[in-house]
Amino acid sequence: MNQDEMKAMVARAALNHVPAGSIVGVGTGSTVNLFIDALASIRDRIKGAVSSSVKSTERMRGHGIHVFDANQVEHLPVYIDGADEIDHRGNMIKGGGAALTREKIVADLAGAFICIADASKLVKVLGKYPLPVEVIPMATNQVIRRFKVIGGDAQPRAGVTTDNGNLLLDVRGLSITDPAAMEIEVSLWPGVVEVGIFARHRARLCLLGTPDGVRHMDF
Ligand code: A5P
Repeated sequence: MNQDEMKAMVARAALNHVPAGSIVGVGTGSTVNLFIDALASIRDRIKGAVSSSVKSTERMRGHGIHVFDANQVEHLPVYIDGADEIDHRGNMIKGGGAALTREKIVADLAGAFICIADASKLVKVLGKYPLPVEVIPMATNQVIRRFKVIGGDAQPRAGVTTDNGNLLLDVRGLSITDPAAMEIEVSLWPGVVEVGIFARHRARLCLLGTPDGVRHMDF
C-alpha cells in the first residue's frame, strides 16, 4: 500500500468519528482533502463544517457542504486534521500547508482533535520536520534571532503569505523534547502569531494508516 492509499484509508475511517447532525471541524492538507471528498458522501447527515483554510472551504463548498464561520459556533464535537509529525503522546507539528493559525483556532473549538495521517508521520521526537511559525512581517528578523539562541535555523518560506496576510518561518535543527514548554515559550515572543506545535491541542485519537490497516492510537 502506498502513502496515498494509506491517506485515503484513514480519511474514510474518520467518517466513523463524525457524529450525526453535527458541525465538524475540518483541517487542511492532502489527507484532509481526501477526508472532505469522503465527507461529501454523508453531507446530508451533518449540519456542516467549520474550515481551517480558504482551500478547504472552497473544496467543501464545491461538494455542497455548508461552511460555518468559526464565530457562528460555540463548540464542535470533533476537529479532524492531518499532521506533519505526531509523537507517541499525540503532540504534533503542523503548518506544512501554512494553515497552522486557523487550524489551532478551529481545534480550540473542538472537544477532540482526531488526527488522520499515514505511518510516515509517527516520530519519537518532534523536530525533524521544519517547525512552521507564523509571524507578523516586522518581527521576522527578531524571531529568527531568538530561534538561533535555542539552536534553530529559521528561514522565511519563499513566496508564501498566510491566509491571514503574514509570513511563515520554517525552523530546522530543533529537537522538541518538551513540546508543551516550547509551544508556550515561542508563543510569548512578540510578533509570533502562532507556532506549529500542537501540544495543548494535541490529538486525542490518531487514525494512522499502515500497510496492515488503520491503527487506532488513543492518547
Ligand atoms: C496544514 O497547514 C498542515 O498542518 C497539514 O495538516 C499537514 O501539513 C498535513 O498535511 P498532509 O495531509 O498533506 O500531509
